[in-house]
Amino acid sequence: WRFLRTLWRITYLSVLGTIGWTAWTVYDLRNPNDQFEPDPSKKTLVILGSGWGSVALLKKLDTENYNVIVVSPRNFFLFTPLLPSCTTGYIEHRSIMEPIRNILRHKKAAVKYYEAEATKVDYQNKKVHVKDDSDVKGDTMETEIEFDMLVVGVGAENATFGIPGVKEHSCFLKEVGDAQKIRKKIMDCVETALFKGQSEDEVKRLLHMVVVGGGPTGVEFAGELQDYFQEDLLKWMPQIKGSFRVTLVEALPNVLPMFSKQLVDYTESSFKEEHIDIRTKTMVKNVTDKTIEASVTLPDGTKQTEIIPYGLLVWATGNAVRPVVKDLMGQIPAQKDERRGLKVNEYLVVKGTENIWAVGDCAIANYAPTAQVAAQEGAFLARLFNTMAKTDAIETELQELSEKQATAKADDRNHILDLISERQKQLRRTRQVGPFQYSHQGSLAYIGAEKAVADVSWFSGNFASGGTMTYIFWKSAYLSMCFSSRNRILVMMDWIKSRMFGRDVSRE
Ligand code: FAD
Ligand code: NAI
Repeated sequence: WRFLRTLWRITYLSVLGTIGWTAWTVYDLRNPNDQFEPDPSKKTLVILGSGWGSVALLKKLDTENYNVIVVSPRNFFLFTPLLPSCTTGYIEHRSIMEPIRNILRHKKAAVKYYEAEATKVDYQNKKVHVKDDSDVKGDTMETEIEFDMLVVGVGAENATFGIPGVKEHSCFLKEVGDAQKIRKKIMDCVETALFKGQSEDEVKRLLHMVVVGGGPTGVEFAGELQDYFQEDLLKWMPQIKGSFRVTLVEALPNVLPMFSKQLVDYTESSFKEEHIDIRTKTMVKNVTDKTIEASVTLPDGTKQTEIIPYGLLVWATGNAVRPVVKDLMGQIPAQKDERRGLKVNEYLVVKGTENIWAVGDCAIANYAPTAQVAAQEGAFLARLFNTMAKTDAIETELQELSEKQATAKADDRNHILDLISERQKQLRRTRQVGPFQYSHQGSLAYIGAEKAVADVSWFSGNFASGGTMTYIFWKSAYLSMCFSSRNRILVMMDWIKSRMFGRDVSRE
């Protein structure tokens, strides 16, 4: 009885604690404190972008040390790892968005935000040209922002390798709008295929969902799509059985090149069981509105051209450099030989500059372009900038103390000398910020049918696993990594809703 009573008390207190903590978090979110106005004498720090890198920086930055200005055409942070789930309505897109205004309103000192795109960074004159490209047009749509320090965190755009027809006919999967477009198009293909009098060949084409690119984006999307078909579409429209097909096309000999061989094999065999067709060694060369043309390498090494009809085409072949980054690279001689993005040093300073830093997918620091890297880089920059501000403050104080000491009476002088020695020690400590070091926590990917694969760093070794338990780990890991408690609650509710009532198949 004593044991049961203790257990009851612990449970009761934990539930009470969780309710109290949730209530406090919600209250705190809804009632931010008053903010300090920025001090005009401080340096102006301009941050481009509101993605993983920039938001990780903003989260940890002591904004009272700078005049911070954020410029991004997207006025929210997007939790990209759950974006593939939005293409089928398993998760609603707003559940993984966090308004930038909420994030900034919770900082100690106010931060200015402009919803705009940086069109050019003028390195010589320390200015960023920005343009508001939104639907509502004001009298002023373009302006310039001066900076003392600049952080470029604009991410990357979709790589198309100049393949004809890709931009015109395929859907990408990088932004919320892309996921919405795909969701709509899946249902459009299904309803059009079911139109009276549609020929058998046309039904097959319309219901052929082709994904190009066997990286994690392509694999996760193919898995989500097949789940949608098995769990929902087939229930409401059994007549599409036998015609609905998902094909993943990859130029290399296997998918998921960044995962261990064992997990690649596991993914490929799981896809086979789920009836997802994997076409490796198949490089897409041309795209029309209804077909893709691919060069297939046969087992004997010869190449053959194949025309594959499709209804929906999702293009996920990785990243390309954004024009604003390309333009900046062109202004800096030290960046001349780089093609993939802004080359940075171990402190993430853009090589060839002194006052420009880069984070995330637009920075080249020898790490994969992932959210994990971008977030760690952003957090590192926040530490660096906080330390730089502290160092500046101590140096100013030291200067004042030395001036005071020169004119002070003998009694006060000893006290001032003690203070100077204390500040010098502090200065030495704060200056000891080491270079950026990335800590790889592992790679995770959902592969459909409630299975995931994980290559996780475990103490000093690596731990590879795949299956349903890994899926539970995948779900809990991403839930805990969501930006806010609000996001976590919304995602959990979406999962429950989709389990109970199924995904919403209306096309809107
Ligand atoms: P982004 O997060 O892309 O942010 C760029 C920001 O810059 C955006 O706010 C954008 O609006 C803004 N911007 C663009 N142009 C301009 C401009 N001209 N001026 C000003 N602002 C501009 N990584 C993982 O580690 N794990 C995962 O599970 C994972 N899943 C993913 C799933 C999908 C579907 C995708 C597409 C990516 C996934 N990634 C994942 C990769 C990860 O999302 C990126 O590496 C990460 O977003 C990079 O962060 P970033 O800050 O560099 O860029
Ligand atoms: P990717 O660069 O990882 O993979 C793209 C794939 O497309 C490559 O395997 C390439 O061989 C293939 N490809 C290129 N051109 C082709 C063509 N013409 N025909 C056929 N195949 C072609 O790109 P992805 O998946 O968009 O990922 C981008 C970044 O985001 C990566 O760094 C990735 O690690 C990260 N990411 C991580 C996720 C995770 O950890 N779960 C999920 C999604 C993205």
